[in-house]
Amino acid sequence: MRLKKDSSEQKLRGAYYTPLQLANAMVSLVASQNIANVLEPSCGDGVFLDSLASLNLLDGIPDVTAVEIEDDEAEKVRNNYRDKKNVHVLNEDFLDFYQRVYGKQTYDLILGNPPYIRYQYLTEEQREIQSSILTSHGMKSNKLINAWVAFLVACVQLLSENGKIAFVIPAEILQVVYAEDLRLFLSNQLSKITLLTFEQLVFPDIEQEILVFIGEKGKEEKGIRIIELSNLEDFKKLDLNSNGFQKLKHVKEKWTKYFVSAEEIKVIQSIRDDKRFSKFSDLALINVGITTGNNTYFSVDKQTTDKYELSSVTLPLIGRSSHAHGIYFTDKDWQENIQSDKRAMLISFPDTPYEEYPDKHKEYIELGEKNEENKGYKCSIRDRWYIVPSV
Ligand SMILES: C[S@@+](CC[C@H](N)C(=O)[O-])C[C@H]1O[C@@H](n2cnc3c(N)ncnc32)[C@H](O)[C@@H]1O
Repeated sequence: MRLKKDSSEQKLRGAYYTPLQLANAMVSLVASQNIANVLEPSCGDGVFLDSLASLNLLDGIPDVTAVEIEDDEAEKVRNNYRDKKNVHVLNEDFLDFYQRVYGKQTYDLILGNPPYIRYQYLTEEQREIQSSILTSHGMKSNKLINAWVAFLVACVQLLSENGKIAFVIPAEILQVVYAEDLRLFLSNQLSKITLLTFEQLVFPDIEQEILVFIGEKGKEEKGIRIIELSNLEDFKKLDLNSNGFQKLKHVKEKWTKYFVSAEEIKVIQSIRDDKRFSKFSDLALINVGITTGNNTYFSVDKQTTDKYELSSVTLPLIGRSSHAHGIYFTDKDWQENIQSDKRAMLISFPDTPYEEYPDKHKEYIELGEKNEENKGYKCSIRDRWYIVPSV
């Protein structure tokens, strides 16, 4: 496992700043004239305040509160805006701020790019507050949940009756299992959700796929829309009004389904009703990929399989898309992959007592421990690191 001391300061703080071009685009989409107050929960170098200023909105907002945990950054932003009586920069942990103001204060607009910090990098106190934010709003809390989730939940709780939130968050919100409760919470709490996705990486340095999340409170019918952009330049031609909302259901289901427009859903429905077609799921099982936690260790070639006598605990595997060609993948293709020394077998050790494992299997597991193959995060949180779940 990567320990705190191994990680860069930037990573521990989740400090990857939003490009001004993106902040400007987000502010233009959500800000309006009649806003009583704005909150930026983790302002970094203050780019969202800069955007409000450059779009001539800052002076018209009676209260702009920006929170930042890092002293130097908070000081810098405070200095930049020291002439503005309506701007308050607080050098504080947002999680503490939230506990202090929740129930007493709401915001018309919340803007930001919350820190993406893995659970294991949070302090004990932060973990506790994060858990209580999640569980007190009906969500489960666990070690897979990244700090941005708690920031988003807390900020939605701080919105006023018709408040809006615009956040830069990881694109994985659309489908990951650990965000199931979050998707349900957001669909319960918000009336309109807009997600702007980008084909090209907005943060190339960290290879993190992000999206812009815009949530609106209110009493209107619930709706969601996903708008696909290629890059930040596309904001220039974006016309939000030409993209209608689809009905948002109160479900944990993946939001990727909303990529399909209402019109496209109709076409799919008509094909479904047409008896000439059968469903792919009638012919084959469809499942998500397997999270081994260490693909190099758990996917093996023929030589390793033979050496450690693993054939009784391996399953056929297409480890990479380059291992399959064309529409069909038959046993013959698989055999060819084995013969050409591809890692075409997945080890799936059984959940039986370790003592009952054959010696050769134990030898392979010991080899893994010797080479620290078990130290990665996903393996380290399993009861038995060498048993891959949900195969
Ligand atoms: C992804 S950066 C974004 C900064 C800025 N909002 C932007 O969009 O450029 C996240 C920021 O959150 C700050 N941060 C991390 N943990 C925090 C916490 N618990 N409370 C407040 N700020 C925090 C980091 O120092 C960093 O400046």
